[in-house]
Amino acid sequence: MTTPPNTMRLKSFDLATQDIASVDVEALHALSLGVEWPHRPGDWDALRALGHGFVALDEIGRVFSSAMWFPHGEDCATIGMVITSPRLQTHGGGRWMMDRILQQCGDRRLILNSTRAAYRLYVSLGFEPQATVYQCQGYATPDAAPVAGLADAVEAIAPTDLGEVAALDGAAFGAPRPLLMAHLAPTAEIRGLRRDGRLVGYGMRRPFGRGVVIGPVVAESEAEAVTLVAALLAGLDGQFVRLDTRQETGALRTFLEAAGLRLFDTVRTLTRGGALPKVEPGRPGVYGLAAHALS
Ligand SMILES: CC(C)(COP(=O)(O)OP(=O)(O)OC[C@H]1O[C@@H](n2cnc3c(N)ncnc32)[C@H](O)[C@@H]1OP(=O)(O)O)[C@@H](O)C(=O)NCCC(=O)NCCS
Repeated sequence: MTTPPNTMRLKSFDLATQDIASVDVEALHALSLGVEWPHRPGDWDALRALGHGFVALDEIGRVFSSAMWFPHGEDCATIGMVITSPRLQTHGGGRWMMDRILQQCGDRRLILNSTRAAYRLYVSLGFEPQATVYQCQGYATPDAAPVAGLADAVEAIAPTDLGEVAALDGAAFGAPRPLLMAHLAPTAEIRGLRRDGRLVGYGMRRPFGRGVVIGPVVAESEAEAVTLVAALLAGLDGQFVRLDTRQETGALRTFLEAAGLRLFDTVRTLTRGGALPKVEPGRPGVYGLAAHALS
């Protein structure tokens, strides 16, 4: 009998796209686990309820790729959950999925948060770098103290009372996100910060991945952002907490470090069709992201 060869080329297979709403959430969970992302099935479902997207399936229904977009008003969208299964990467699947997503997004202004692996792909599609996102996470420690003097101005906001929150969020984000607010609120603790009767900051905390995520956080200064985050950390001692911010240094990062939320990784925010609103003292700014996919 002849010796079988040591190598062989397996027959390649075809992939076809399908609406992401149509597949079993466990297949999506397996896809994101395969690239070591922390999303639970519930996180995927929450994103699917908010946005649109595709998966790429082989002939027997295995999911090899995903990509999603999330409209924020008529003129803006965020892109996320762009994944190719490791064994099919660098074969053009990511670009194929992105082309389909971009076609659906039309001429909306686009925002996404890019990993290192995806950076070249997005730049080649016309996206421009805007800022670094610092993913801070860890087990919350009990002794981080809020900024003295501001804590009294923090109030709990009911998940049904989102009018002012949505207006403030839209001013900071640069596009209206009332649907996102309404979607996050039922599972969130929400805190607001009021100055002279006016809501000047808000923050949410909600279950995500391994524990709790704090975000979005909108404020008019770092001190106010710290106060909101401190209020949202109350009662979370010893729990795994994550917050993504574009603040490179300063009071918020120092506070997060003291509270046990250390820098874990970075991604880069890229936009197409318009710059990211600046975070400056004295005007509403995004100090904590809602999620990578939602910015
Ligand atoms: C990023 C990702 C989706 C790309 O998918 P893909 O199917 O490999 O993409 P493509 O084969 O279409 O490649 C697109 C471009 O990216 C480049 N690229 C792909 N993987 C890369 C890597 N790990 N490092 C650097 N460049 C890479 C390719 O060379 C190609 O560039 P080119 O067209 O100039 O040659 C995939 O690597 C992935 O799922 N990574 C893990 C999850 C992730 O980071 N998702 C991105 C979220 S923002």
